Amino acid sequence: MKPIVKAFFDEQTNTVSYLVREPDGTACALIDSVLDFDHAAGRTDTRSADKMIAWVKAEGLRVEWILESHVHADHLSAAPYLQEHLGGKIGIGANITLVQDTFGKVFNEGTEFQRDGSQFDALFREGDSFHIGQLRGDVLHTPGHTPACLTYVIGDAAFVGDTLFMPDFGTARCDFPGGSSEALFQSIQKILTLPDETRIFVGHDYKAPGRDDYAWETTVGEQKALNIHIGQGRPIEDFVAMRDARDATLPMPRLILPSLQVNMRAGQMPDADTDGNVYLKVPINKL
Ligand SMILES: [Fe+2]
Repeated sequence: MKPIVKAFFDEQTNTVSYLVREPDGTACALIDSVLDFDHAAGRTDTRSADKMIAWVKAEGLRVEWILESHVHADHLSAAPYLQEHLGGKIGIGANITLVQDTFGKVFNEGTEFQRDGSQFDALFREGDSFHIGQLRGDVLHTPGHTPACLTYVIGDAAFVGDTLFMPDFGTARCDFPGGSSEALFQSIQKILTLPDETRIFVGHDYKAPGRDDYAWETTVGEQKALNIHIGQGRPIEDFVAMRDARDATLPMPRLILPSLQVNMRAGQMPDADTDGNVYLKVPINKL
């Protein structure tokens, strides 16, 4: 069955969020949503999420799942806000517990911060499946960018998060804590065993040299033939050397500190401080 896919692009963070729906029916899922965040002002905004909500309502859809491909380090998730307005269950990879453990330490969280993934409604593992109405979703564990990264294969469409980007841009960085370029290589091979005509929807787009428009949809066949980092059967040693060298030159994402603190809590802010306000931390010289 071929789902209908609607993309929402956030130019501030180059993130693509997706609405995936049954071809004949009203069930849908929302993948990798964005809560707008003005870092300088410490202020959130729901403009991007409100566009998704308006679309769901205008089309008369029923949200069954709010899915995260991973704990994003470059934007905040709007999952709890979407759930409040539209319902649906929030799902992520079961290895979220590793991410929570790592960043629970980085941010010196107390014991009130649970590291068992209990902030989410569903924790998926390799081989798990789920349904969006008549559509079936299958879960691939695709670590490398982070240890908890998943690819959701829904009908003929694979939502690959930050593993592969468009063929002319390549692949995701692997230098965050728990990342591994070897693991990313293996994960990508797993994605590339899907049929060549499988549609691939990527989690970000930054354009690419010589390309003037944003793009987010490609296929397994195109990735195998054209991906500049991994196409044409590039061997793992080449890929790992290229990826690690490139990662050493990349700056930290602008929103990494707020994103991690919020997204490791399934998109919830930390508990309010004694004055009733919410604060995020800036660990000094730790990342
Ligand atoms: Fe990411």
